Amino acid sequence: MSKRKLRLAVLISGTGRSLKNLINRISIGELSAEIAVVISSTPSAVGLQYAEEESIPIEIIERHNYTTLRAFSEPIFQVCRDKYVDYVVLAGYLKLLAIPQDFNNRVLNIHPSLIPAFCGKGYYGNIVHSKALEMGVKISGCTVHFVDEHYDNGPIILQKAVDVLEGDTANTLNDRIFDAECIAYPEALELIAEGRVTVQGRIVKISPSQNRKNEIDF
Ligand code: GRF
Repeated sequence: MSKRKLRLAVLISGTGRSLKNLINRISIGELSAEIAVVISSTPSAVGLQYAEEESIPIEIIERHNYTTLRAFSEPIFQVCRDKYVDYVVLAGYLKLLAIPQDFNNRVLNIHPSLIPAFCGKGYYGNIVHSKALEMGVKISGCTVHFVDEHYDNGPIILQKAVDVLEGDTANTLNDRIFDAECIAYPEALELIAEGRVTVQGRIVKISPSQNRKNEIDF
């Protein structure tokens, strides 16, 4: 199967570090994608600067302007349809969305823990890492998953484990997990671009790479 170039919408609420990472990976040819639009839940998201620098179109759609989840979500997905977006990438996006039928398994999120640990409503930023440290876990990490209508709940595409070290603080653990995220998110998207990802219920299957298959055949 030939690799496609994915058209992405990236949704942000904050610093946009994940957005910046995706922009970098695309620019060095590690991710076969283009960002068609950045949608922010707030005009004050610092990460909007990265979209501006790259002349990526920006939309601001704020939750408080809509009475229901569905009314809020619809214009977001309409922008994505209008821009012919293939996949919607949540990158530090802090709002729940109602996913319309036509975007089922086309919305991805990254969460800074090994789901189902330390996730769900209220688990964001350093709270995730503080809870992991309080629990005394020896391994944490990050999870890329498809998004459904519950926080951090949809089918898991890939996970990367990160050791918790003696003396870790929420900040130091966050830094190392973010380094893993910078690899995991583009890797998951690249698997999709290569046509290797299929979803069966809540199980995501990753087929072997064509390159590897050729090596074995040879
Ligand atoms: C990351 O920790 C990611 O796991 C979570 O949001 C954080 C990135 O936010 N979803 P940002 O890109 O710095 O705004």
